[in-house]
Amino acid sequence: MSKYVGPVEFPCEITLGRGLEGAITNVTKIGAVNGVEGKLIYRGYDIKTLCDHSNYEEVAYLLIYGNLPTQSEMSAFSAELKREGEMPAPIMRMIEGLPRDAHPMNALQAAVAAAGCFDKEGWEVTKHTSDPAAALEIERKVGIRILARTRSFASAIARAQMGKDLLQPNPDLGFTANYLYMMSGEVPDETMCEVMDVCLILQADHGMNASTFTSMVVHSSLADMYSTMAAAIGSLRGPLHGGANEAALNDFMSIGGPDKAAAWVEQRFAQGKKIIGFGHRVYKALDPRAVVLKQYAEKLCREKGFGDLYDTVETVERETLKRMEAAGKKIYPNVDYYSGLVYHALGFPTQLFPVIFAVARTAGWLARVLEYLPENRIFRPRAVYDGASDLKYVPMGER
Ligand code: ACO
Repeated sequence: MSKYVGPVEFPCEITLGRGLEGAITNVTKIGAVNGVEGKLIYRGYDIKTLCDHSNYEEVAYLLIYGNLPTQSEMSAFSAELKREGEMPAPIMRMIEGLPRDAHPMNALQAAVAAAGCFDKEGWEVTKHTSDPAAALEIERKVGIRILARTRSFASAIARAQMGKDLLQPNPDLGFTANYLYMMSGEVPDETMCEVMDVCLILQADHGMNASTFTSMVVHSSLADMYSTMAAAIGSLRGPLHGGANEAALNDFMSIGGPDKAAAWVEQRFAQGKKIIGFGHRVYKALDPRAVVLKQYAEKLCREKGFGDLYDTVETVERETLKRMEAAGKKIYPNVDYYSGLVYHALGFPTQLFPVIFAVARTAGWLARVLEYLPENRIFRPRAVYDGASDLKYVPMGER
């Protein structure tokens, strides 16, 4: 048991933070967000270092196992991801049967949940009570399978929505290259894989955000890993979380060019509406992920003929920052301000942006639920009741 866990006495005096602000879920070694300095680390490594030197597969290993892999560990992990990435045929048929205009996040959530019905090994977490070490091993194995499959389902959903035949992973390609290949049917070039790796690395983990908390809450009841991951995908879907990059790009496209951007920001503030892609519960400094992505966004947009869109986005950023500064608010662009722009320049349809996020974040969700499992205790916060009491029941005819 961790030395940080102490007794809780009720009734106790607490300060209520809306949205559980300030609440602590557990003690972790997986990653940390330093919102004051604008830093993000995974297992002790700065995110920028990992973007410069690593790839998503290696970072997923790092998050899940706690250390950078040796060559043989990496080869075994890559082989496992390749092996487990094959999609069960019934799930492929199910994906093909979903409406073409379904939101891909709903489709992804359904595919992950449905895949759980075909994987009996995935139900074995309940062994935790009798054999915790064995349960941890099974959960890790199943979780890695879900990571590989989530990537495959994400590509399959994209292809199904384009009316194309679904593809199984290409055994000659790694995790990221396969993601792109299974979507487009073409083996991607190195630059494309490199940019995609950076995007996936940047979104692999991020403290106790809503979807990570969801995964932990669900798994803390000893629910199976498929239910856990499907629930986390649901939590990530909304525009205040993983859906923000999609919503942000839709806004940017609607502005109509850089010369209209300042007026758009002015109107938005006048209407009391938020600028999507700005703000963060933890960062009160520049989000380090946005710093990395901004460089890629500019380079790619200029190369691919979206220079005007980039200039629009930069003007919105500048005008918003001016207003935030004037209001004394430490609100800056977050990861989703520029990630959508990068995905757009890479050719992804807007609706797919949150799905890419979900694929990336599966590693973080998995790492965190595995870390918590040996000390598992079901999450059970309380709400302060502020309603009536002692009401007299009035029969329906007398109301
Ligand atoms: N545009 C304008 N004002 C903002 C913005 C924004 N994007 N974000 C926060 N503010 C203002 C709020 O209006 C509020 O002002 P007030 O104190 O005068 O009422 C203040 O800053 C605090 O904001 P909250 O909404 O209370 O911050 P909270 O921590 O609850 O929410 C959140 C954080 C959800 C990210 C919020 O900033 C937001 O809605 N941003 C837009 C959506 C977005 O980009 N989400 C992606 C987040 S990153 C991720 O999930 C990967």
